[in-house]
Amino acid sequence: MASTASVLMWAFAVSLCFDVSMCYFSIPMKVYTGKFGVSSDVNLTALLQVSSSSNGNGLSLASDPTGTVSFLDMANNLYGDSGRGYYIEMSIGTPGQKLNILVDTGSSNFAVAAAPHPFITHYFNTALSSTYQSSGSTVDAKYTQGNWEGELGTDHVSIPKGPNGTVITNIVAILFSDGFFLSGINWQGILGLAYPMLAQPDSTVEPFFNSAVQQLGIPDIFSLQMCGAGLLASSTIDPPGGSLVMGGIEPALYQGSIWYTPIVEEWYYQVEVLKLEVGDQNLQLDCSEYNKDKAIVDSGTTLLRLPVNVFNALIEAFTHSFVELSSDFWSGTKLACWFKGKTPWRVFPNLSIYLRAMNSSQSFRITILPQMYIQSVMDPDGTVDCYRFGVSSSVNGLVIGATVMEGFYVVFDRAQRRLGFALSNCAVKDGTALSEIAGPFSAADVATNCSSSRLMVPFLWIISYVLIAICIAVLLILLLLLLLPCHCRGHAGEITDESSLVRHRIK
Ligand SMILES: *[C@@H]1O[C@H](CO)[C@@H](O)[C@H](O)[C@H]1NC(C)=O
Ligand SMILES: *[C@@H]1O[C@H](CO)[C@@H](O)[C@H](O)[C@H]1NC(C)=O
Ligand SMILES: *[C@@H]1O[C@H](CO)[C@@H](O)[C@H](O)[C@H]1NC(C)=O
Ligand SMILES: *[C@@H]1O[C@H](CO)[C@@H](O)[C@H](O)[C@H]1NC(C)=O
Ligand SMILES: *[C@@H]1O[C@H](CO)[C@@H](O)[C@H](O)[C@H]1NC(C)=O
Repeated sequence: MASTASVLMWAFAVSLCFDVSMCYFSIPMKVYTGKFGVSSDVNLTALLQVSSSSNGNGLSLASDPTGTVSFLDMANNLYGDSGRGYYIEMSIGTPGQKLNILVDTGSSNFAVAAAPHPFITHYFNTALSSTYQSSGSTVDAKYTQGNWEGELGTDHVSIPKGPNGTVITNIVAILFSDGFFLSGINWQGILGLAYPMLAQPDSTVEPFFNSAVQQLGIPDIFSLQMCGAGLLASSTIDPPGGSLVMGGIEPALYQGSIWYTPIVEEWYYQVEVLKLEVGDQNLQLDCSEYNKDKAIVDSGTTLLRLPVNVFNALIEAFTHSFVELSSDFWSGTKLACWFKGKTPWRVFPNLSIYLRAMNSSQSFRITILPQMYIQSVMDPDGTVDCYRFGVSSSVNGLVIGATVMEGFYVVFDRAQRRLGFALSNCAVKDGTALSEIAGPFSAADVATNCSSSRLMVPFLWIISYVLIAICIAVLLILLLLLLLPCHCRGHAGEITDESSLVRHRIK
């Protein structure tokens, strides 16, 4: 690899704050001059014509046998990129106030800014909505870095480029926040699309999508295409965007067939990962390692995050068999830069994740090419191309984040409790597909159940009960000694997800 070493130079921009979680937002984006892939825009015209000619009725849809609903209205309704998140425009209240809302499949609250904040341009003014109703209770969510606190209420919400109709839904009006809204984002709220079990303060707060399914009568399925493949941050002139199709599947957004994997448990979108490959090399770990303590598909997480053991094995495989780069690159603290156009893509291997197929004795694999996980970041002076490693380690499970999702059209088929992956039409650069799906493979060599039980959760509850007990004991002692009241407020039992774009609380 001597030739690569010679063209490789470490970024002078090392002083960039790469403080694990905040780094994506600290990269000076202004100098980014990279062009988004030529085929970034799906040529819907062409696809539509093909589809129409085979079916006089227009597009036929898996979840709409009559073929009368067109999901093309929902194509390209997302904006953003993996680094700062993908968002959709929503109209909240009466009359509607338009806000950009981050699409997050890793949480379950619909929460929007309802007070000014330095990093957001506008917010939802509850006083100007005649239909807003406060429940009088407050909700808070606390993360390692940042938190929000707000008022739980209900209001009428519609999505201009979404399903027809208005949904009366729970909404958290964020009144105080710290570190939740970040510099450079263009969204003012979050749409949690996961299951009620993750909703705050408890699972009785019906998530938006559950309300939409019930009130609009749309099928219990949504699908997501995110189009920023290989870019951590897009330029404002050439935004990648994507599509969130609520109620079905839009054939114009993918190619080939959809491969499905069961949803192991309905809280996050938890799936079962059977195997990881770097190039042709199997990491050879026990499959329970890949699912420790869960494996989820989360659009609100930027990177592919791997449990520590898996991450270490991956780096080992990289450095021994493929490409030797400073450990600072693998750990995400430094960028790798090559002279313009000299990026040695061929020395980097493809990354494959094997997922359990619906037939549990089989699996299929989703593969991303290096162009997706060696992510173009910026171009400090126009002579070099710089990249960041799109994989990081995690202490709370494997997360298939935006870095991987951008290669695929991902179908969240809640009705049939399964997640589907198909080749995304926008994961193409210079005419080459950046992702691949293959199968079926035999899963005979893998354990029948790789998902760890959620022992972790009761365990945390035990910890929180112990802490509460200690707290009460201290309180009693204080009462006895000082005869003064003590306000004991704890958030024991929280786990946070440090490098998520949006960090989640596990109940
Ligand atoms: C899309 O495809 C149609 C039909 O092949 C073609 O006429 C049109 O120019 C294409 N549009 C773009 C933007 O490439
Ligand atoms: C929404 O309504 C319009 C006009 O009635 C119709 O053409 C379109 O197919 C509808 N879309 C959905 C997703 O139902
Ligand atoms: C990665 O996958 C692509 C698409 O199948 C293939 O063309 C390429 O040769 C693979 N790269 C390596 C290093 O195996
Ligand atoms: C599931 O896969 C196994 C192994 O490939 C095969 O023998 C079996 O027939 C399949 N079952 C079904 C229901 O397709
Ligand atoms: C695998 O184990 C998990 C955790 O114990 C359990 O929830 C799940 O139902 C099991 N799956 C199968 C197919 O047995």
